[in-house]
Amino acid sequence: MKTNKVKLIIGVIFSTILFGLTWNIKDPKLNDDISIRVDDLISQMTLEEKVGQMTQVTLQAVSKAQGTVNQKFEIDQEKLKKAITKYHVGSILNVYDVAHSVEEWHSIIKQIQDLAVNDTRLGIPVIYGIDAIHGATYTKEATLFPQAINMAATWNKELVRKEGEITSKQVRASGIPWNFYPVMDIGRQPLWPRLWETFGEDIFLASTLGASYINGAQGEDFSSHDKVATCLKHYVGYSFPLSGKDRTPAWISERMLREYFLPTFEAGIKAGSPTIMVNSSEINGIPVHSDYHLLTEVLREELNFEGFVVSDWHDIINLHIRDRVAATPEEAVKMAVMAGVDMSMVPLDFSFYEILLKLVQDGEVPISRIDEAVKRILTVKMKLGLFENPIPIENFEQAFNNSEYDKINFQAAVESIILTKNNENILPLSKKTKLLITGPTANLLSSMNGGWTYIWQGNEEKLYPEKENTVLEAISKFIGEEKVTYIEGSDFNRLKDIDKIKSAANSVDVIIACLGEPAYCEFPGNINDLNLEEAQLNLVDELSKTGKPIILVMLEGRPRIISKIVDKTSAVLIAFLPGLKGGNAIASIIFGDETPSAKLPVTYPKNPNGLMCYDYKPIEDSDSIITYNAQWGFGYGLSYTNFEYSNLILSKNEIHLNEEITVNVDVENVGKKIGKEVVQLYLCDIYGSVSRPVKQLKGFEKVQLNPGETKQIKFVISPQQLSFIGRDNKRIVEPGDYEIYIEKLKASFKLLNN
Ligand code: BGC
Repeated sequence: MKTNKVKLIIGVIFSTILFGLTWNIKDPKLNDDISIRVDDLISQMTLEEKVGQMTQVTLQAVSKAQGTVNQKFEIDQEKLKKAITKYHVGSILNVYDVAHSVEEWHSIIKQIQDLAVNDTRLGIPVIYGIDAIHGATYTKEATLFPQAINMAATWNKELVRKEGEITSKQVRASGIPWNFYPVMDIGRQPLWPRLWETFGEDIFLASTLGASYINGAQGEDFSSHDKVATCLKHYVGYSFPLSGKDRTPAWISERMLREYFLPTFEAGIKAGSPTIMVNSSEINGIPVHSDYHLLTEVLREELNFEGFVVSDWHDIINLHIRDRVAATPEEAVKMAVMAGVDMSMVPLDFSFYEILLKLVQDGEVPISRIDEAVKRILTVKMKLGLFENPIPIENFEQAFNNSEYDKINFQAAVESIILTKNNENILPLSKKTKLLITGPTANLLSSMNGGWTYIWQGNEEKLYPEKENTVLEAISKFIGEEKVTYIEGSDFNRLKDIDKIKSAANSVDVIIACLGEPAYCEFPGNINDLNLEEAQLNLVDELSKTGKPIILVMLEGRPRIISKIVDKTSAVLIAFLPGLKGGNAIASIIFGDETPSAKLPVTYPKNPNGLMCYDYKPIEDSDSIITYNAQWGFGYGLSYTNFEYSNLILSKNEIHLNEEITVNVDVENVGKKIGKEVVQLYLCDIYGSVSRPVKQLKGFEKVQLNPGETKQIKFVISPQQLSFIGRDNKRIVEPGDYEIYIEKLKASFKLLNN
């Protein structure tokens, strides 16, 4: 029990440890040089040129013809010239509205940079930004990985780092130096249609994986021709709308914001991300784009962020037209810029430029604020090496069609698919099994990839590469078409072919039902009910009447509730959005060429009104209704082999404040197959001055073990990991008793009062 209520305010100490290494301190000399160059450039700039740097438009604003499957995209030279030479725009983003080939990208970027560098007074290059969410989304032939929710399910830092590395290579090879990724929002609201863009519900897991991604994407120096600058988004609290609908209000107290939502961004800043995108919505009635406290006091003064802040899509003007906290467009621009937004994703016109120019001329916005924003933007451009290399390098060696990347992508997909049920070890199946494959997601690549795939919504099936396999195609190739019968059975919300399907079931050994969701992104993915659509539940219900074993495969962006049908199945694979190699990975797991090793990065709920995260509070555990009654809990996932844990040993039973503690545990593969296990360390702070979670993840390690092999895993728990946000909203550590849990093992230690 807590012996004393002494609290240590550790914010200052930790911020130095955490943020000492920011993105521009690695080579102080270089940074000084850049700072001098930027100041020199700014001293030569007109107000118009400065405001232009703060303006970002979408490619659509400078385009003649929209790209489609059948129509080539075309830049409108006049519009582009006007944007660059009249409005001096500093940044352009995205596509209009279909992925381009690398050659097309080179031509687009070259036209833009030629104008910016050669036809303007100071020759400042444009910074092009893109949503390369699970790979280079908008470049044809890109390696498209499992989405973030799956990458989190791998619990494999190295795979996430490699995803960052490969994505950067392909994005930069396309001539683009800036990626609006990673999403550092915490996925604690399962209805939210962007849950799959997050690394799940846990702060430690998401912070660790987000930082790994940034390390891979940026390397030591993002000016390198195969690296890009990352962008943390969406600062902050975007992922927690009360209604679950995209871009709707969040109600998050300052304490909760600091406890749950800021740490992932802190981790991203520490990992060196030089840009941040703002939450499109509002917290406690304050649209974040207008929030000086969050965008300046917290972000700059506490988190020491030194890069630039970009708005989200249309969100400055939204302060006027949508949120109505600004009575005029002018007030909206002033509010956002003075709150701390450095660049406006306008994105379709030049209104922001015109308004901001006038505001400065009228003395409504001080020039010092403009200089500050422009300095931040130009610093990133210079660090990216854009002044030296504004144009993409031709013939970028082996960036695409690289079999090594395909292997890593396949590995990521395999390690991201969670086996949550396997009655009597029905899986893996023998390759001799005769199968009926059914369900709306069985033959769709889009349902395996989700949004941000070739187009925003990712739902244009004909844009997907023919060489990639749906679940149906992969299984048919794996065991031979003659052993597979396919009947769709149901689309996403309508049952069909039921009689046909039941009679087909009679002549097979096993049924594979592939259910889930179509591809979506942002608000088009809003739903009113987390339950899976009735038609799909009915499909399994009908299938179960045949008496044949059912293997359920869920392809979905969030954990749609399936409690009505789980008992009717023999095995369940929660595959979420496993990317282009998802079909092959699912087939390999089903037939045992690969052993599952994924663990849930979110709680899989059982009831739509029983939503809880795993790190709930003691008060939430009082009876059979008020309890963590998940379908499958956070961190859960089965394997084809078994692991046993022993010898949980702490280096000390008592530690002093600011001392570390070492935790060792043995894990043994006691099964018959080689397999990977995620060793998860949870901590419980038994008594606290504010209520503490029943447990929280504080360490994890993924290890591969041969049958009979034992490995010792070591964790070091730092005082930072014992800290939390106290009643006065400051980060503190409290002396007292702590417990550590690894699987079913438990150990305790005491934190002393000095
Ligand atoms: C999304 C961002 C994205 C931006 C640019 C917005 O609608 O919220 O995540 O980066 O569009 O495409």
